[in-house]
Amino acid sequence: MQSSCEISSNSIRKFRPEVFKAPRDFVQPIFADQPIVLEIGAGVGLHALSFARENPDFQVFAVERTAEKFQKFHQSFLSERSQNLTPIHADAIPWVVHALPPACLQQVFILYPNPEPKNPAQRWFNMPFMQFLLSRMKPNATLTLASNITEYLDEAEQQLINLWQLPYQCSAVTTERRTHFEIKYMERGEACGQLLVTKPAGFETLFDTFSPESLRLASLGNSV
Ligand SMILES: C[S@@+](CC[C@H](N)C(=O)[O-])C[C@H]1O[C@@H](n2cnc3c(N)ncnc32)[C@H](O)[C@@H]1O
Repeated sequence: MQSSCEISSNSIRKFRPEVFKAPRDFVQPIFADQPIVLEIGAGVGLHALSFARENPDFQVFAVERTAEKFQKFHQSFLSERSQNLTPIHADAIPWVVHALPPACLQQVFILYPNPEPKNPAQRWFNMPFMQFLLSRMKPNATLTLASNITEYLDEAEQQLINLWQLPYQCSAVTTERRTHFEIKYMERGEACGQLLVTKPAGFETLFDTFSPESLRLASLGNSV
């Protein structure tokens, strides 16, 4: 029987991790015995660099797919050389599928994602990938989604209530200056907000037993 927290495979389009190839130049991360933080769409890395600096006991992975932004991020990283930060140039979806075991993340940040006005299916909380991302989070781990677009946050909130059935807190961004986009919006006097989502203990997904090793074994099986 399905538990109350389990997400039915009928309620959303199913995510298929097995169709994602590893990103180019993929390197399997080595995990330290530290809480793991993932930032998706890290841009030029302002938040990832400062979070890693201020939280030396956390291991931070920050993924950015746009080459130009990643190069700037990497330059800043090289001048700072944070031991506990790994900048990754990749699409976050295949990277998460190939890199992360179940229930490993303590915190996830998605700060000022692209609004995707013509492509609502590409907004993070509308994507089937979201269920996979939840499977990578530890019980009681949090996900922070920030945006300057009220409609984006409203839609994400509806998805949290109706589809993902997750507890969350909604708040205004007031004093934070975490990313370049946040700084820009705050300087313009635009209102920014965020959702702090918690994965409750006992929350089940379809991917709780899916490991990157199973993908590697399957690809070895296909090559012989
Ligand atoms: C609007 S920018 C915000 C950047 C940064 N978070 C900030 O607030 O300054 C959104 C970023 O997400 C990145 N992005 C979008 N989809 C991504 C994906 N699937 N994997 C990795 N990065 C992604 C884009 O390349 C872009 O740099």
